Amino acid sequence: DGSKLWGGRFVGDTDPIMEKFNASIAYDKRMWDADIRGSKAYAKALEKAKLVTAEEMDKILHGMDQIHDEWSKGVFEVKPGDEDIHTANERRLKELIGEPAGKLHTGRSRNDQVVTDMRLWLRDAISIVKGNALQLITTMVERAAVEIDVLFPGYTHMQRAQPIRWSHWILSHTVALSRDVEQLQEINRRVNVLPLGSGAIAGTPFNIDREMLRQELAFDDISINSMDATGQRDFVAEFLFWASLCLTHLSKMAEDLMLYSTKEFSFLTLSDAYSTGSSLMPQKKNADSLELIRSKAGRVFGRCAGFLMTLKGLPSTYNKDLQEDKEAMFDCYDTVHAVLQVTTGVMSTLKINPSVMEAALSPDMLATDLAYYLVRKGVPFREAHGISGKAVFLAESKNIPLNQLTVEDLQTASPLFSSDVSAVWDYSSSVEQYSAPGGTAKSSVAAQVEHMRTWLKKQ
Ligand code: ARG
Repeated sequence: DGSKLWGGRFVGDTDPIMEKFNASIAYDKRMWDADIRGSKAYAKALEKAKLVTAEEMDKILHGMDQIHDEWSKGVFEVKPGDEDIHTANERRLKELIGEPAGKLHTGRSRNDQVVTDMRLWLRDAISIVKGNALQLITTMVERAAVEIDVLFPGYTHMQRAQPIRWSHWILSHTVALSRDVEQLQEINRRVNVLPLGSGAIAGTPFNIDREMLRQELAFDDISINSMDATGQRDFVAEFLFWASLCLTHLSKMAEDLMLYSTKEFSFLTLSDAYSTGSSLMPQKKNADSLELIRSKAGRVFGRCAGFLMTLKGLPSTYNKDLQEDKEAMFDCYDTVHAVLQVTTGVMSTLKINPSVMEAALSPDMLATDLAYYLVRKGVPFREAHGISGKAVFLAESKNIPLNQLTVEDLQTASPLFSSDVSAVWDYSSSVEQYSAPGGTAKSSVAAQVEHMRTWLKKQ
């Protein structure tokens, strides 16, 4: 096995099944660009440390550019024996420029190389999903602004609760997504740390200028401890958890939308572009986009839980178990990237049915307001709640809507009811009471829209 990066001390060949089992090239080739960036920066650090001459450095840089070209044109040839992307690029470099290629790995280990690549790759991925999330948020905020006058039933425990603005519902999900964006930025601070120069475990014995590497690769900081730097994947776990929480938010939103789009609710209609049909039932229009959005949360939780299990109990520093980090990271990125785009599509194309939404409101949803009517007349809330509850019971036993009770009926529950109680039975004035910040009054929802617009400008 003398042909391998590590073949020197080996006499026997690797078992072919083991060879395949050990290899990560099939998926880590996605990091080809990050790997080349890292190697180019490292070649410069080697030159500065006088471990390669300026000419050797130039050869390495040009060779790397050529490899870059091959990858970007899709003509890079992965050969049997290319264990991973690091091996493949170095093998190709040697073919292209000959001997100075053998100097590139001086003081470097795949242990610090792979985690440098991971961080470079994830940094770019984070900026892409952040952009996807901001696009979704923008779509939702602008939709909330346009449809601010639409009222519909708000639910708790999936039971009819209080009248709210449709835009209030939209913004409730938007605000959760804005927290996701903030958390992503927070994670990025810990992703954007340079491990290169940590070697395999002990650091580097050469004059590798890690500060220069940091600048060259635009990292914010350099890692503090070489054992930690090569042996930890906290930043991957954080990203997987981030994806899990973000998709939890979207699965909740998808679930609401699915319910609202049923014939029974008919609050909204999904665009054909995000629906599919049945091979058997011609009338069917299924909300497959929403079901898939909902399902993907389970997929990323699995990745997150699975990778945490891989990490648990590992001894310190690099262990090959860590190679499992990549498929989890790529898959979560691909999944969130797709889900955010599809959700943006769904949210920008669905049509609401305002008359059905408003017709779905019912007077019992104003029972809280009926209690507040009494509170405004000096009744302690706990007592007012009981009185309003009695009125609900009375209406139910008479089999009439709450607002059809006469003042006399109401007075059997409390003498404080008078003819002005009729003002309670108005959905528009009901929502307008909720004008404190965060509430469902028009002024308050408009303020939420403004808050989100300002927030978006700062991203
Ligand atoms: N393909 C490996 C990984 O993804 C690279 C690091 C291998 N390092 C080692 N000492 N075997 O983790």
